[in-house]
Amino acid sequence: MDSKAIAILGGTGDQGLGLALRFAKAGRPVVIGSRKLERAQAAAEEVRQAVAGAHVEGLDNADAVRRAPIVILSVPFEHTAATVKAVRDNLAPEQILVSMGVPLATAVGDAAVRTVGVWQGSCAELVAALAPDGVEVVSAFQNVSAHRLRELEHPVECDVVVSGSPGPRKLVMALCALVPGLRAVDGGPLGNARFVEGITALLIGLNVRYKVPEGVGIRFTGLPSA
Ligand SMILES: NC(=O)c1ccc[n+]([C@@H]2O[C@H](COP(=O)([O-])OP(=O)(O)OC[C@H]3O[C@@H](n4cnc5c(N)ncnc54)[C@H](OP(=O)(O)O)[C@@H]3O)[C@@H](O)[C@H]2O)c1
Repeated sequence: MDSKAIAILGGTGDQGLGLALRFAKAGRPVVIGSRKLERAQAAAEEVRQAVAGAHVEGLDNADAVRRAPIVILSVPFEHTAATVKAVRDNLAPEQILVSMGVPLATAVGDAAVRTVGVWQGSCAELVAALAPDGVEVVSAFQNVSAHRLRELEHPVECDVVVSGSPGPRKLVMALCALVPGLRAVDGGPLGNARFVEGITALLIGLNVRYKVPEGVGIRFTGLPSA
């Protein structure tokens, strides 16, 4: 396992591929996971085409999790539990599993401007309930627009609230610095993920009302600089 590598499960989709492009551009090894090996390989090729010298490979999700100390879950909320269950035997203690999911009401056929309640409190806490003992779940990147991530020539102006246990949280906060314009904000314990996830539904409504298809971001004011 390469200690600098970042694995992205569902990295074939909008948000995961956006992060893959940005992390590869920053020079980090990236492993794109998919349920289908061919889709992962095609996504890896897309990153290589966009980022000269990118160190990226495509694997099926179960193999991808073995390749990196930090694994980002990038599948729609309704497929989160199945995805974690499918790879849980390949996760090892001390690996970090990043939850980026938002329980949008689209999961039950309703609108993306609302969320559904999750018994555990948030998508991130659902992931924590399903993850094997010793795996550290951290919540991050829910408020970042996929469209903006994929515009490599522009910074992504957005704060990223990162929640989880202090050590793993710090490691995920450091990932934000790899993407120009992203600023990590210390979001405290994982239980705060519920607030962050809810903001995404609000942002989707703002995108519609203000006609910003590229995606609105968030900034906190008054924080001392790091
Ligand atoms: N899009 C955004 O702007 C945005 C912003 C903030 C947060 N997010 C969050 O990021 C996550 C990914 O969003 P996205 O827009 O990238 O989603 P997406 O493009 O709809 O799907 C991402 C990937 O999920 C996998 N997937 C699809 N159906 C599945 C199933 N039945 N079981 C398991 N995996 C399945 C697919 O990968 P394979 O078919 O290759 O396995 C797909 O490429 C979501 O939780 C979303 O809430 C998205």
